[in-house]
Amino acid sequence: MVLTLLKAKPETKLGKQICKVVLDHFEKQYSKELGDAWNTVRDILTSPSCWQYAVLLNRFNYPFELEKDLHLKGYHSLFQGSLPYYPKSMKCYLSRTPHRMPSERHQIGNLKKYYLLNAASLLPVLALELRDGEKVLDLCAAPGGKSLALLQCAYPGYLHCNEYNSLRLRWLRQTLESFIPQPLVNVIKVSELDGREMGDAQPETFDKVLVDAPCSNDRSWLFSSDSQKAACRISQRRNLPLLQIELLRSAIKALRPGGLLVYSTCTLSKAENQDVISEVLNSYRDVVPVDIKEMARTCSQDFTFAPTGQECGLLVIPDKGKAWGPMYVAKLKKSWTT
Ligand SMILES: C[S@@+](CC[C@H](N)C(=O)[O-])C[C@H]1O[C@@H](n2cnc3c(N)ncnc32)[C@H](O)[C@@H]1O
Repeated sequence: MVLTLLKAKPETKLGKQICKVVLDHFEKQYSKELGDAWNTVRDILTSPSCWQYAVLLNRFNYPFELEKDLHLKGYHSLFQGSLPYYPKSMKCYLSRTPHRMPSERHQIGNLKKYYLLNAASLLPVLALELRDGEKVLDLCAAPGGKSLALLQCAYPGYLHCNEYNSLRLRWLRQTLESFIPQPLVNVIKVSELDGREMGDAQPETFDKVLVDAPCSNDRSWLFSSDSQKAACRISQRRNLPLLQIELLRSAIKALRPGGLLVYSTCTLSKAENQDVISEVLNSYRDVVPVDIKEMARTCSQDFTFAPTGQECGLLVIPDKGKAWGPMYVAKLKKSWTT
């Protein structure tokens, strides 16, 4: 098969090229799944100059001057005070325009002051409602953005960050060391297990589990520079839901009765989102969905959501001036009865 890399007209300056084989594949699937909304989503996903970057301030080296500067630049604080669960220690700023702060260099002996991220990545973290002292597992943790965000919310009694890929594990360690003070890093357990084994290794251990699953990662796949790799990923895409379900089963096993689990992906794909959650809910009597529609209502000024048909699921879709997502989030509870 000959794969063409299309030059995205408005993006030549940024040097990003759209991989046509991926775009064609998404076009077929997502125009069916999202209907008319897909046209806007596609325009944004294929135009990196429209992408927005939120600024998560680091509570462990708080940049007061930068915060003032962000206000002057027209940034506003994400959901401050509007969510029933919103830890005051978590400060994230975003702008309606595609302005991007420069990334910060790590200087030895100095913690980084801010982390750039897709603002929708904070939704799974907030949905977990982490409290001080809780035992939490981040099952698929690298490069560590959500672990870092969790630590902005509360001081867990025990944080276990797991990542299966050894190169990415190094990246995770670097993120933790660049943002988190050493005494706290020392109490974070980092492991390199296949997440599917965690349930057997640590059954009924955690109050909260985050499964930010490996998925089709629509944004990055669209800009695959290696077209053969892209074609290979697409042909293996249908295997992802099985891996996601197995990771969820393991996570449920690792969760204590009464504990909460959040599942998230950064793909629009229904097969990797709603269908995975439906499959899990259908096979466990002691796992129930938790309604998170209230969260969507309180942040609808900043995010656009697509219908998921599930009370436990939200799907953030990129929109004009709200170029956040894709991000799917579902919240489940393991009940006491079996
Ligand atoms: C979406 S990324 C996680 C992003 C991360 N939570 C963050 O916010 O920075 C999914 C991660 O799962 C890892 N992964 C893939 N298969 C896995 C497995 N079987 N067990 C654990 N992690 C796995 C991938 O290497 C990848 O780093």
